[in-house]
Amino acid sequence: MSNPPLSANSTILGIESSCDDTSAALLINGKIAANITASQDVHRKYGGVVPELASRAHQSHIIPVIQTALDTAGITIHQIDAIAVTQGPGLMGSLIVGVNTAKGLSLALKKPLIGVNHLHAHIAALYIEHDVVFPMLCLLVSGGHTQLIWAEAPGIYSLVGQTIDDAVGEAFDKGSKIMGMGYPGGPEIAHWSETGNDQFQKFPDSQTDSLDFSFSGIKTSLLYFLQKSQQRDPEFLATHRADVCASYQKALIDMLLKRVKKALKEFPAASIGLMGGVSANRLLRSEFATLGQTHQIPTYIPSFEYCTDNAAMIAQAGLYLGQQAQYMSMGALPYTRA
Ligand code: KG4
Ligand code: ZN
Repeated sequence: MSNPPLSANSTILGIESSCDDTSAALLINGKIAANITASQDVHRKYGGVVPELASRAHQSHIIPVIQTALDTAGITIHQIDAIAVTQGPGLMGSLIVGVNTAKGLSLALKKPLIGVNHLHAHIAALYIEHDVVFPMLCLLVSGGHTQLIWAEAPGIYSLVGQTIDDAVGEAFDKGSKIMGMGYPGGPEIAHWSETGNDQFQKFPDSQTDSLDFSFSGIKTSLLYFLQKSQQRDPEFLATHRADVCASYQKALIDMLLKRVKKALKEFPAASIGLMGGVSANRLLRSEFATLGQTHQIPTYIPSFEYCTDNAAMIAQAGLYLGQQAQYMSMGALPYTRA
């Protein structure tokens, strides 16, 4: 027998394990009652996510994280109405841990299972805190994706531009690695940028005619700039780290905003939204909000806890799917590409 649609006040357990964060959340009566995330420090020394290590860490984190979420919300597993889980895109081994845990719970508890697209969930992060006015032009910026999305309603999305090579989060991560700094690179570069001069060095914008982005060139120009400068002065990076970070960060943000401005000329947006891990960047947040003010339309940006990967956004996206009875079958597989 097929499951009926969920009601707006359902209790949904959200599970996220697409990359290197294991997260569980509870959405109860339209409010996030718990959002618990275990990050994986094990990748730090490699300067990026090691897929096999990520799968193993998810395996050991997932049950304690779900239990902590239930304890925080003050409910038992038997009180949930449905389970929403990230189905993709992401790392296959990581997704399998979340999807199979969710399938096991669904079978054992006889509760419906909802497969959530991770990118749609980043957009749904906005619905946790805002009554969004549509149509909304979205800038989705994460470690694996950089996309401009035209959103007409929750779940009704079309892609209007995307990166043709690296994601902007990757440009932060690789830039940090080039400068001998830690992973994830975004927070490191943002931290150093606070005391730097963003006019110190001009990094070139890759020219794309469409609304697409390209970030591989700027990363290479950072590498060559540092190699040349260090040859002249071996202490160059030690002396100018903050200035280089600030200039690099500013160039990346300018490249993002240039495309958003261009898209706003083509699309009659009633609002703009920013989401994904890179939306935790303070300079990007403030410049994006200024853009909304200039266009006199509302700007939506998630609170910090809903920017990087989290299960609250999975539960929220799951609610919309469950309300339409869009459930996942037991035979459904994770998918790795958007
Ligand atoms: O959405 P997310 O948590 O995972 C993916 O779905 O990829 O995004 C992670 C990305 C990483 O590249 C990380 O460096 C970046 O978000 N990030 C930041 C900041 N915090 C996280 N980038 C710039 N500034 C930040 N403050
Ligand atoms: Zn993400």
